[in-house]
Amino acid sequence: MRDVVIAANWKMNTTPADAGELAASLAAATRHPEVVRVICPPYLSLAAVGRAVAGEGIEVGAQDVHHEASGAYTGAISAPMLAGLATWVILGHSERRRDQGETDALVNRKLHRALASGLRPIVCVGEVLADRDAGRAEAVVAGQVRGCLARIDSETLLAGGLVIAYEPVWAIGTGRTASGADAAAMSAAIRAVLAEVGSTRLADSVPVLYGGSVTSANVGEFLVEPSIDGALVGGASLKPDEMAGIVARAAVTATARAVVEAASRPADDRR
Ligand code: PGA
Repeated sequence: MRDVVIAANWKMNTTPADAGELAASLAAATRHPEVVRVICPPYLSLAAVGRAVAGEGIEVGAQDVHHEASGAYTGAISAPMLAGLATWVILGHSERRRDQGETDALVNRKLHRALASGLRPIVCVGEVLADRDAGRAEAVVAGQVRGCLARIDSETLLAGGLVIAYEPVWAIGTGRTASGADAAAMSAAIRAVLAEVGSTRLADSVPVLYGGSVTSANVGEFLVEPSIDGALVGGASLKPDEMAGIVARAAVTATARAVVEAASRPADDRR
């Protein structure tokens, strides 16, 4: 049974002074332990968020990590620096691909580092509008998945708890979303690549999230799709009321999956 994951990407919002309060409000609004809840604040707010959500079952993630463990990289943050502060990391977000010129090859190096460091990775992929309009969205995303996962074996990806977030670039922060059906089709395409480069088990096990203008009003359209396992939420993740609705809807999916899983187990195991 795949985890249902709701990850909050705060992007460049909050300060160490106000992040704790927001994290505490989100924790209070989202008490559904059946949903894997992750908050990814800016680096400088990781400690405050960690303190605020202690004991709440919420995990904390970074929004990026350098591919090297240390060295002459002015301004960069490495995996060892995140020890005790974050257990997850977002990699290859389209804003970093756009603003910092990150390529699939670089994301692949970061993924190696994250897995070696015990950081659970959320690898972001997604096409720009021109790709979708030209009918090559699936080919572009498949290429990104292949590039980001290159030279990492299936067992390592499984052990590291790889998560993939499908975020069409044209849907991020725009108020436009993919349809649930389009997101599900892309999730199937992503799983086909996971089977090709890894294994059927990898394809069946990796949670695939949707991201891009997710709100409490539209998250159900994605979570109703069996191949979609949650959401990476940007703007709405700064609003406790929105997150309350998003996580509550995710809890419905998580509970339904647990019921199906229990029913499919042999009677002897159920006792
Ligand atoms: P958005 O951002 O929800 O504000 O569109 C999602 C993301 O970039 O992860």
